[in-house]
Order: sequence, then structure tokens, then C-alpha cells
Amino acid sequence: MKVEGRDYQTVWLEGDTVCLIEQNLLPFEFKIFRAANYRDSCMAISSMVVRGAGAIGATAGYAMAQAFLENGNDRGYVETARQQIENTRPTAQNLFYAVERVYKAGLLSIELAVNEAHQIADEDAASCKKIGELGNDLIADGSNIETHCNAGWLAFVDYGSALSPVYAAHRSGKQVFVYADETRPRGQGARLTAWELRNENVPHAIIADNAGAHLMSQGKVDMMIVGSDRIAANGDVANKIGTLEKAIAARHYDIPFYVAAPVSTIDFDCASGTDIPIEQRHPDEVLYQTGPDAEGKLEKIRVSSPGSEALNPAFDVTPAGLVTAIITDQGIFKPDQLAALNKQAR
Ligand code: MRU
Repeated sequence: MKVEGRDYQTVWLEGDTVCLIEQNLLPFEFKIFRAANYRDSCMAISSMVVRGAGAIGATAGYAMAQAFLENGNDRGYVETARQQIENTRPTAQNLFYAVERVYKAGLLSIELAVNEAHQIADEDAASCKKIGELGNDLIADGSNIETHCNAGWLAFVDYGSALSPVYAAHRSGKQVFVYADETRPRGQGARLTAWELRNENVPHAIIADNAGAHLMSQGKVDMMIVGSDRIAANGDVANKIGTLEKAIAARHYDIPFYVAAPVSTIDFDCASGTDIPIEQRHPDEVLYQTGPDAEGKLEKIRVSSPGSEALNPAFDVTPAGLVTAIITDQGIFKPDQLAALNKQAR
């Protein structure tokens, strides 16, 4: 991925320090956040310095490795660290997958823990590159594609999940246009997807979340591609709140609805979407917005009626029946084909 012409990774380790792009400041300021220990890394995940399933997974893997580097011979210390890392964000499957892998490796040696964390980040990037190659075949020249939230290279290491096929199509010379849902309450589409697309020179427009069905009714959307935070074994898909209503609208207007995610996002132990824990975030994310003031300093302002409460479920579950196909690093599958993939994997 390129930011202002320079190559960056989504997350990397420098010595014992985990380095991350500070996503809370984007698109107004580009800054690297340095997490000196596993507690800082936990804070970075829960406060959404880093977000997006794959990026959270890679960071969580490095956080687990940091705990081993800090005090790997003290089993109590690494157990506590593991629990704290797992408590940061409950929905993203990649977090649990990464922590488990690094923890097991760390029980053998501290060096293996660090190697495993590197491998998870590298695998994530390779998987997302593959998703781009496979997904590109589904995109016709001249397509208008709607996406929700940010499932680009800020969210999955170096390539992204939902945006990886878009980038591959664009780089292969196809004309593509992206409608980026703004994605209330935090605005990952308006802030992050739009910023990424601009860095990649992909033509796009930000749309209000409630504009999607209207554009579909006008024949302006050819396909939807979204990412996922966790996919259940039956093909139900958890993704950013608001995805479900887009899937319902897409089905109504007969528009293909694709989910792009590496196989590491599938939780084969989770039978259906009802078993996926849905994170509830702070009501302030709904009640307030943050943006730069006249001097460019980020300011938080209330944008809703004073005195009212808010509810803030961060994810919803789209039933498998509304999903056209899941673009993974191992192939493109109908949701009901995941069970066979599971047998093959075990
Ligand atoms: O709460 P977030 O921003 O971490 O949300 C997760 C996501 O990035 C999305 O749900 C995304 O569409 C899929 S994960 C790349």
C-alpha cells in the first residue's frame, strides 16, 4: 500500500514495539502510533487506533508476542495478557485466531511466538492479495460497486479484503467506480475508505448510509462487496452495522452481494450467526462527531439532541441466504459450501 507515494505496512514490529497507522486521526492527519508493550497494543485495539478484522488480528498476534517478550517465563503474566487482549474487541474472529496461534507458539519459545506473529501478518497480506486476484474476475469493466465500512488495506494487512478486488480491477485497467457508504456512527467509509481510494486514484463518491437502496433502485449499483469480521460455519456473515439492510436492498433489486474475507475469518466452531457476539460500543460514538476545527485540531462536537441516550451495536449479521458468494483466499464459495471447506481444512 502507498501513502503519499511512500510504501507502508498496516502493522509492523520494530524491536519490541508494535507500529500502527493511527486510524482515529485519518484522513486529517497521518501519524504512526507506537505501542511499547502489550497493554499499549490492547489500548490501541480497543480505542480503534487500529481496526478492521485482519489488522486487529495481526496487532493482537504481536501483542501476544510482546507479552512473551516482556515476561515469557511467567505463565501467569502471559495468561493475564491473553485474557486482556481477547477482551479488547469481541466480534473479530481474526483476533482470537491470532492470539491462540501466538500463545501456543510462545509456550515452546519466545522466539517462536515472535515468528508466529510475523507469519500471521504475512499470511494475512498474502490471503488478501489472493482475494484481490480471484475477486477481480467477478468485476466487469465499467462496474459501479458499493461497499460498506472500511475493508481496505487499513483493515486487512496491506491489501484489504473487500477493496482488494477493486484495487486489482483498477490496476488491471478496468474502469470501476465505488460508492462508499459513510458508515455511521464512526464514519469508516467516509473517512477511511474514501481516503484509501483517493490514495489509489480509484474514482469514488461517499454516500449517506441511507442512500444505498435509492441508488440501487435507479440501476446505479452493479454489485456490492463488503468485508466481514466473523463468518459462521453456515455462511451467516457478521460485518459493520448497516450491512444487513444493504444486503436486503441488494436482494430486492437483484444485485449480487459479495463478502470478501480470508478463510481465517471463518469461525467453523460457530454454527450460525446467532452465536456471534456483537460488540456494543459507547453511545458517544452516535451522539458526537469528531473533525478538525479551523486550526486543524480535532474537536468532538455533539450532533444530536442533548439529554437523549443512544444505542450503539457495532455489527449486524447478514443471513447466508442473502449472500451471493464469499470471496476467500482459497476460492469463491456459496455460503452453503463452507461446510465442505471445513472438512477439507481439518
Ligand atoms: O469496528 P471496526 O471498524 O473494526 O469494524 C470492522 C470492520 O472493519 C468492518 O466491519 C469491515 O467491513 C470488515 S473487517 C475488514
